[in-house]
Amino acid sequence: MSDRLKIAPAVRLRGVASVPGDKSISHRLAMIGAIAEDRTTIQNFAESADFLSTLDCLRRLGVPIHRDGNTVTIEGRGLAGLRKSSHELDAGNSGTTVRLMSGIMAGFPFESIFIGDESLSRRPMKRIMEPLRRFGAILEARDDNYLPLKIRGGSLSPVSFTMPIASAQVKSAVLLAGLHAGGTTKVNEAVATRNHTEIALAEFGAGISTKNGTIEIEGGRPLRGKEFHVPGDLSSAAFLAAAALCVPNSRIELKNVGLNPTRSGFLSLLQQMGPKISVAQLSAGTGEPVGDIKVETSELEGMDIGGSCVPKHIEERALVVALLAHTRKRINIRDAQELRGKENGRSYAPASHLRGVGVQGGE
Ligand code: S3P
Repeated sequence: MSDRLKIAPAVRLRGVASVPGDKSISHRLAMIGAIAEDRTTIQNFAESADFLSTLDCLRRLGVPIHRDGNTVTIEGRGLAGLRKSSHELDAGNSGTTVRLMSGIMAGFPFESIFIGDESLSRRPMKRIMEPLRRFGAILEARDDNYLPLKIRGGSLSPVSFTMPIASAQVKSAVLLAGLHAGGTTKVNEAVATRNHTEIALAEFGAGISTKNGTIEIEGGRPLRGKEFHVPGDLSSAAFLAAAALCVPNSRIELKNVGLNPTRSGFLSLLQQMGPKISVAQLSAGTGEPVGDIKVETSELEGMDIGGSCVPKHIEERALVVALLAHTRKRINIRDAQELRGKENGRSYAPASHLRGVGVQGGE
């Protein structure tokens, strides 16, 4: 296969498109489906290497999984039904796989070892190790922070955990461990992060509630498998939307995109910059809001970004930076330190690339 890709500029973008299923939601449905009773069917799952890493780890833990086109069927083993893997659990490049599954593995009385590729092996794991230790699980990692990560759990005591950073992955690890604890686990979030885990757990029948930034989950309650249709990934839709905004004479429609408000910060930011975007909310099937997005070529103003909106567009930050070159005023970005810990320097790499082609900006 050639390693070259030639891209010619589009004259205009026109048409109707669907995007692949949401990655964050797909991971969660597969993991929770694995510890639910009965079968879970996931239609329109994210066909990404990261999601396949999650499926691979679950298979190694004894979960029968069948793929047919873009549908995955998971035969749930129940809350206590995973079995020790004879191999290490290879999460590839997927931080979501390691961090969320660590919460699940903390509930099992055998040792699980997560490994990953070179890039994942440089990403911090202490953020999930600390709260999982509070439940009573035993965790060891290289320099107490990096893969390989060993976990041995068992009978967990519930915790009350205040999030030190805004991270849906850390929150999710705690909630998933809370499923195995004998009592009610509480997580306090000062800044709301994506709530796909809470929505999925409620769909599977967990005893979970959220009030004033505190999420409570009841341990020990069995979960029930069901059928899900994963909404289109807003992070993929965002690239097409941004292209349509910038390429002259464009008009596109993106169908069945996930519009969870804890995740749709990119759309809100764009709307503040005054472009021609309309969003038709369709339904909240299986708990997640879904809708169609229409976008036309538009002039963009600048804006100021920071504070609680940061986690709501964490994946699309590179795109916000790329749009800089098409705005009439400047874009100011604050509170982006957390992005330095991301796998690809999501905000910073594009900023330096833009400087390379003459766009002005500083960090
Ligand atoms: C994710 C949460 C985010 C995001 C990551 C996926 C998730 O990470 O950057 O790609 O699915 O929960 P943090 O929660 O660590 O910020």
